[in-house]
Amino acid sequence: MSWELFLWLLALCVLLALVVQLLRFLRADGDLTLLWAEWQGRRPEWELTDMVVWVTGASSGIGEELVYQLSKLGVSLVLSARRVQELERVKRRCLENGILKGKDILILPLDLANRSSHEVATKAVLQEFGKIDILVNNGGVSQRSLCVDTSLDVYKELMEVNYLGTVSLTKCVLPHMIEKKQGKIITVNSFMGIIAAPLSGGYCASKHALRGFFNTLRTELATYPGITVSNVCPGPVKSNIVKNALTEEVTKTLGSDADQSHKMATSRCARLMLIAMANDLKEVWIAEQPFLSMAYLWQYIPTWAWWLTSKIGKKRIENFKSGVDADSSYFKIWKKKHD
Ligand SMILES: NC(=O)c1ccc[n+]([C@@H]2O[C@H](COP(=O)([O-])OP(=O)(O)OC[C@H]3O[C@@H](n4cnc5c(N)ncnc54)[C@H](OP(=O)(O)O)[C@@H]3O)[C@@H](O)[C@H]2O)c1
Repeated sequence: MSWELFLWLLALCVLLALVVQLLRFLRADGDLTLLWAEWQGRRPEWELTDMVVWVTGASSGIGEELVYQLSKLGVSLVLSARRVQELERVKRRCLENGILKGKDILILPLDLANRSSHEVATKAVLQEFGKIDILVNNGGVSQRSLCVDTSLDVYKELMEVNYLGTVSLTKCVLPHMIEKKQGKIITVNSFMGIIAAPLSGGYCASKHALRGFFNTLRTELATYPGITVSNVCPGPVKSNIVKNALTEEVTKTLGSDADQSHKMATSRCARLMLIAMANDLKEVWIAEQPFLSMAYLWQYIPTWAWWLTSKIGKKRIENFKSGVDADSSYFKIWKKKHD
């Protein structure tokens, strides 16, 4: 074979590889490291059995779905949130569909904003199961309101629940993990912890704060390689998050069931979270396109991201003011084109 032909073949192979990667990216619903781990990495079914997993925000949405999937893996579960009845419903479904027995699931009511209760709650888990292997900081609340209209109390509440509540609980569990030199701290962050978008200034701030805190904690735990810290950053996922979102006043939630057709299935998000947990990934992005591309743009080409965000942002505010879900009409068009 002549050199010329060899170089042509090589160029063709490189081009083909690039096209394959591009097609993979267009179909991706998680960052490429996460999807690689799903394909080639450790399976949750092998890695997470026999562990004690404490999930906050287990009464609804992503946390609820996550515990259903965990209940099929032979773990012990601690379910926390404020609404006990909802936690009991979730426990019943875990028992009906999973492989756990009643004694394997502890319902532990917990308000993230009530920080003085976190130490007692941690002791209750240790008394029941003797250890905490995985803490999933999932409980949280969102926001839909313009900065100019929003009361400071809303920002305070978002920081209390999403940021300080999560940090407080983590600080209660951390000494136990340090003593054992083992543990996984998983925090459900958000794309709003990476990017910025109108109508969620307080939410965005709380999630950016969480990302800063847990990235720092990871560096401090460098001498404990058995303790891993993962930030899970989902884009839009089907749940009650928008319905429960705070608005201009802290006493007022959005209350309406937003159109969710453009959002990712909750079960898929939970499955990818399990992959992240099994593979100790430091940060994962979970979202379908075009949301996933936005995170890549913000990370690698921020100038373009700012330009695009200002275009999309205007539409988001228009949608919000006309009573439609901020994202739905905009991204539904994109989804329809690509489904
Ligand atoms: N769905 C999305 O599109 C999306 C995207 C990115 C990130 N996230 C994050 O995913 C996590 C779960 O949200 P979700 O989408 O599943 O929404 P969700 O359906 O509204 O669930 C939120 C959960 O948090 C709990 N919670 C709220 N306030 C709490 C408090 N003060 N103390 C303790 N628990 C509290 C709720 O339980 P109680 O009301 O019973 O307390 C509920 O179980 C949140 O951290 C959210 O920021 C969601």
